[in-house]
Amino acid sequence: MRVLVVGSGGREHALVSVIAASPLCLEVHAAPGNPGIALVGKCHPVAVDDIEAQIALARDLKVDLVVIGPEVPLVLGLADQLRHIGIPVFGPSAAAARVEGSKAFTKDLLESAGIDTAKAFAVTSFAEAQDAIRQLGGRCVVKADGLAAGKGVVVCDDAAEAERAAEELLGGSLGGAGATLVIEERMDGPELSVLALCDGEAAVPLPSARDYKRIGEGGTGPNTGGMGAISPAPGVSDEQAQQIVETVHKPLLRELLKRGIHFSGCLYAGLMLTATGPRVLEFNVRFGDPETEAVLPRLGEDLLPFLLACANGTLVDGTLRTIPGAAVTVVLASRGYPISSESGTPISGVAEAGRERDVAVFQAGTAIAGGQLVTAGGRVLAVTARGADGEAAQAAAYAAAAKISFDGMQLRRDIGSDAQG
Ligand code: AMP
Ligand code: GLY
Repeated sequence: MRVLVVGSGGREHALVSVIAASPLCLEVHAAPGNPGIALVGKCHPVAVDDIEAQIALARDLKVDLVVIGPEVPLVLGLADQLRHIGIPVFGPSAAAARVEGSKAFTKDLLESAGIDTAKAFAVTSFAEAQDAIRQLGGRCVVKADGLAAGKGVVVCDDAAEAERAAEELLGGSLGGAGATLVIEERMDGPELSVLALCDGEAAVPLPSARDYKRIGEGGTGPNTGGMGAISPAPGVSDEQAQQIVETVHKPLLRELLKRGIHFSGCLYAGLMLTATGPRVLEFNVRFGDPETEAVLPRLGEDLLPFLLACANGTLVDGTLRTIPGAAVTVVLASRGYPISSESGTPISGVAEAGRERDVAVFQAGTAIAGGQLVTAGGRVLAVTARGADGEAAQAAAYAAAAKISFDGMQLRRDIGSDAQG
C-alpha cells in the first residue's frame, strides 16, 4: 500500500513510523511532514489547509489510503472530498468533525445520548452569560464555542472571574470563536484521554493516556497543546478504558447516526474521573498530540489494517493487542512557549537519544538549516520511552531527553507522575 499522512507534528511522525513498519506498507508519504518524518517517508511541501493541493497530491501519488492528522483539514472537508473521488481516507467528514469544531453541538449530542458530562449553557450575550454563571453558582468553566487552539477555555474560581472571561471572549478576544460561549459546571478529578478507532457503530479502543496540558509542573501556568503524556493513564485499567468506549464512544456514534452522520476516524474522548465516575470534558475527532506518541509505541499489532478498515467501512468491534508496561512521552518545547516560540535554534543529541532501546524521538517543530537540525515552532520534539511500568518508562524518557539540548529548551519534569496535568 501507498499511504499519505497529512500533517507535520509529533503525532504524524508517530503515525508515519507505525505505518512504515507495517508489512502492508510499500511507501509512506507525508504532507507537509517534517525532517524527522523525512527519515521514514517522503515529504511533500503542501500545507494542511490547502485542500485542493492535498487532493491533487493524493491523486498524483495514487495512494491507497490518506490518514489525516490535524483537525483543520477535517473541518474544511478534506475527508469528504477524498471520499467523493474514491480515495480511501481515515478521518471524519466535515459534518462529523463538528463534534470537535463546536462545543455547543457536542453538548447537545451528549445530552440526547445520555452521556455523563458537565451541566452547560450555550450563550451569545453577556446578560445570558451572567445568568448562566449565577445558575452554576459562580465556580464554573467558560469556553469559546469554536476552535481556539486550546486557548478558548477559562477555568474560573468565582463569578467575578467567570464574568470577566465571558466579557473578553464575547468581546472578540479570540475573534469569531467566542461569538457563542459554553458556560459549564466545573468538575474535579484527574483527567484521562480515551481514543478509539471508529466507523459507524463499530469502535476499537486504543490504550488509555493522560495528557499534561499545562506548561508548568504540578499543572500550573497556561494551557499548551500538551507537554507530555503517559499511557496507560495512572490507575486506569484496560477494562476501564474498554468500559468508557461502551458508555461514551458508542452512544455518541449511535446518536450521530440517528442524525444521519456516519463517523469514521479516531474519536478522542477527554474525560474527568470524578467522584461519581468518568464524565466527558470534550471530544476531538482525531488522534491526540502528544497522546499518540505515547499510545502508538505500545501497540503489539499492526495498526494499518485497522485504519484501512475504518476507511473502507469494514471495521468491527474488537481490541488491539498492546505491549505490557507503560510509555511516557516528554515534550521538549522552545523558549517562550506557549506565548511565543523561537525558530532557527540548533538542536543536538536527537540521533543519540533515539538510539536508546525502547526510545523514539518524534519531531514536531523542527527544520533543517544549513544541514543542521534547528527549532521551528513551540513544541519541538516528543521523546517517548517504553518501560516495564510507569516509573521505568518515566526514567527512560528523561534519560533520553537529557541527551538532547537546544538553547531555551523547556520541559516538565513531572510527566508520568500522578501530578495534575
Ligand atoms: P477542553 O478544551 O474543553 O478540554 O478544556 C481544556 C481543559 O480545561 C481541560 O483539559 C480541563 O483541564 C479544563 N476543563 C474543561 N472543562 C472543564 C470542566 N467542566 N471542569 C473542570 N475543568 C475543565
Ligand atoms: N492533547 C490534546 C489534544 O490533542 O487536543
